[in-house]
Amino acid sequence: MRKNKLVAPVLKWVGGKRQLLDTFRPLLPKKITTYCEPFVGGGALLFHLQPNTAYINDINPELIRVYTVIKENVDELIEELEKFENTAEQFYAVRDWDRNKDYYLTLTDVQKAA
Ligand SMILES: C[S@@+](CC[C@H](N)C(=O)[O-])C[C@H]1O[C@@H](n2cnc3c(N)ncnc32)[C@H](O)[C@@H]1O
Repeated sequence: MRKNKLVAPVLKWVGGKRQLLDTFRPLLPKKITTYCEPFVGGGALLFHLQPNTAYINDINPELIRVYTVIKENVDELIEELEKFENTAEQFYAVRDWDRNKDYYLTLTDVQKAA
Protein backbone atom coordinates (compact mmCIF):
# COMPACT_ATOMS: atom_id res chain seq x y z
CA MET A 1 0.00 0.00 0.00
CA ARG A 2 1.21 3.50 -0.84
CA LYS A 3 2.02 5.73 2.16
CA ASN A 4 0.03 8.90 2.80
CA LYS A 5 2.52 11.70 3.51
CA LEU A 6 -0.12 13.58 5.52
CA VAL A 7 -0.36 10.80 8.10
CA ALA A 8 1.62 11.74 11.20
CA PRO A 9 1.33 11.60 15.00
CA VAL A 10 -1.47 13.82 16.28
CA LEU A 11 0.08 14.31 19.72
CA LYS A 12 3.46 15.30 21.05
CA TRP A 13 4.27 12.46 23.42
CA VAL A 14 7.02 12.15 26.00
CA GLY A 15 9.44 9.45 24.83
CA GLY A 16 8.14 9.60 21.25
CA LYS A 17 10.35 7.87 18.72
CA ARG A 18 10.02 10.31 15.83
CA GLN A 19 13.67 11.38 16.08
CA LEU A 20 14.81 7.74 15.98
CA LEU A 21 13.02 6.64 12.81
CA ASP A 22 16.21 6.82 10.70
CA THR A 23 17.96 4.55 13.23
CA PHE A 24 15.07 2.06 13.22
CA ARG A 25 14.61 1.90 9.44
CA PRO A 26 17.41 -0.62 8.67
CA LEU A 27 16.26 -2.82 11.56
CA LEU A 28 12.68 -3.22 10.35
CA PRO A 29 11.42 -6.26 8.41
CA LYS A 30 11.07 -5.67 4.64
CA LYS A 31 7.42 -6.66 4.71
CA ILE A 32 5.01 -6.10 7.58
CA THR A 33 1.55 -7.61 7.28
CA THR A 34 0.23 -7.16 10.80
CA TYR A 35 1.75 -4.61 13.15
CA CYS A 36 1.36 -4.89 16.95
CA GLU A 37 2.38 -1.96 19.12
CA PRO A 38 1.82 -2.65 22.84
CA PHE A 39 3.09 0.80 23.98
CA VAL A 40 1.79 3.05 21.22
CA GLY A 41 2.16 6.48 22.89
CA GLY A 42 2.24 9.08 20.12
CA GLY A 43 2.57 6.30 17.54
CA ALA A 44 5.62 7.66 15.70
CA LEU A 45 6.58 4.27 14.31
CA LEU A 46 2.98 3.22 13.61
CA PHE A 47 2.22 6.35 11.55
CA HIS A 48 5.57 6.10 9.81
CA LEU A 49 4.93 2.49 8.76
CA GLN A 50 1.21 2.85 7.99
CA PRO A 51 0.59 -0.90 8.01
CA ASN A 52 -2.64 -2.27 6.51
CA THR A 53 -3.51 -3.97 9.79
CA ALA A 54 -2.42 -2.75 13.20
CA TYR A 55 -3.25 -3.63 16.79
CA ILE A 56 -2.37 -0.90 19.24
CA ASN A 57 -2.41 -0.73 23.02
CA ASP A 58 -1.45 1.68 25.75
CA ILE A 59 -1.99 1.69 29.50
CA ASN A 60 -3.25 5.29 29.27
CA PRO A 61 -7.05 5.17 28.75
CA GLU A 62 -7.25 8.86 27.82
CA LEU A 63 -4.79 8.27 25.00
CA ILE A 64 -6.71 5.24 23.74
CA ARG A 65 -9.89 7.32 23.88
CA VAL A 66 -8.27 9.86 21.53
CA TYR A 67 -7.39 7.16 18.99
CA THR A 68 -10.83 5.56 19.28
CA VAL A 69 -12.58 8.90 18.72
CA ILE A 70 -10.33 9.65 15.73
CA LYS A 71 -11.21 6.25 14.27
CA GLU A 72 -14.95 6.36 14.93
CA ASN A 73 -15.92 10.02 15.17
CA VAL A 74 -13.36 12.23 13.52
CA ASP A 75 -15.82 14.78 12.07
CA GLU A 76 -17.33 15.48 15.50
CA LEU A 77 -13.84 15.72 16.96
CA ILE A 78 -12.84 18.33 14.37
CA GLU A 79 -16.04 20.30 15.13
CA GLU A 80 -15.19 20.19 18.84
CA LEU A 81 -11.59 21.28 18.23
CA GLU A 82 -12.79 24.19 16.09
CA LYS A 83 -14.60 25.58 19.14
CA PHE A 84 -11.30 26.16 20.94
CA GLU A 85 -9.68 29.57 20.82
CA ASN A 86 -5.92 29.84 20.97
CA THR A 87 -5.85 31.96 24.14
CA ALA A 88 -4.43 31.60 27.63
CA GLU A 89 -7.97 31.80 29.10
CA GLN A 90 -9.15 28.91 26.94
CA PHE A 91 -6.05 26.88 27.80
CA TYR A 92 -6.55 27.27 31.56
CA ALA A 93 -10.29 26.64 31.29
CA VAL A 94 -9.75 23.38 29.37
CA ARG A 95 -6.94 22.33 31.69
CA ASP A 96 -9.34 22.70 34.62
CA TRP A 97 -11.88 20.33 33.03
CA ASP A 98 -10.10 17.19 34.15
CA ARG A 99 -9.23 18.67 37.52
CA ASN A 100 -12.94 18.89 38.25
CA LYS A 101 -14.01 15.24 38.29
CA ASP A 102 -17.77 15.97 38.50
CA TYR A 103 -17.59 18.23 35.47
CA TYR A 104 -15.28 15.89 33.55
CA LEU A 105 -17.75 13.03 33.94
CA THR A 106 -20.42 15.11 32.16
CA LEU A 107 -18.27 15.42 29.00
CA THR A 108 -18.78 13.17 25.98
CA ASP A 109 -15.93 11.01 24.70
CA VAL A 110 -15.48 13.44 21.80
CA GLN A 111 -15.20 16.41 24.19
CA LYS A 112 -12.70 14.50 26.35
CA ALA A 113 -10.64 13.55 23.31
CA ALA A 114 -10.66 17.16 22.08
C1 LIG B 1 7.62 6.19 25.02
S1 LIG B 1 5.92 5.94 24.78
C2 LIG B 1 5.84 4.99 23.29
C3 LIG B 1 6.41 5.67 22.08
C4 LIG B 1 5.93 5.10 20.76
N1 LIG B 1 6.09 3.66 20.68
C5 LIG B 1 6.50 5.78 19.52
O1 LIG B 1 6.72 5.09 18.50
O2 LIG B 1 6.67 7.01 19.52
C6 LIG B 1 5.60 4.71 25.98
C7 LIG B 1 4.13 4.41 26.18
O3 LIG B 1 4.00 3.19 26.89
C8 LIG B 1 2.86 3.27 27.71
N2 LIG B 1 2.98 2.26 28.77
C9 LIG B 1 3.79 2.25 29.86
N3 LIG B 1 3.63 1.13 30.58
C10 LIG B 1 2.71 0.39 29.92
C11 LIG B 1 2.12 -0.89 30.16
N4 LIG B 1 2.46 -1.63 31.21
N5 LIG B 1 1.21 -1.36 29.28
C12 LIG B 1 0.85 -0.62 28.20
N6 LIG B 1 1.38 0.60 27.91
C13 LIG B 1 2.29 1.10 28.77
C14 LIG B 1 2.84 4.70 28.20
O4 LIG B 1 1.53 5.11 28.58
C15 LIG B 1 3.38 5.46 26.97
O5 LIG B 1 2.32 6.01 26.20
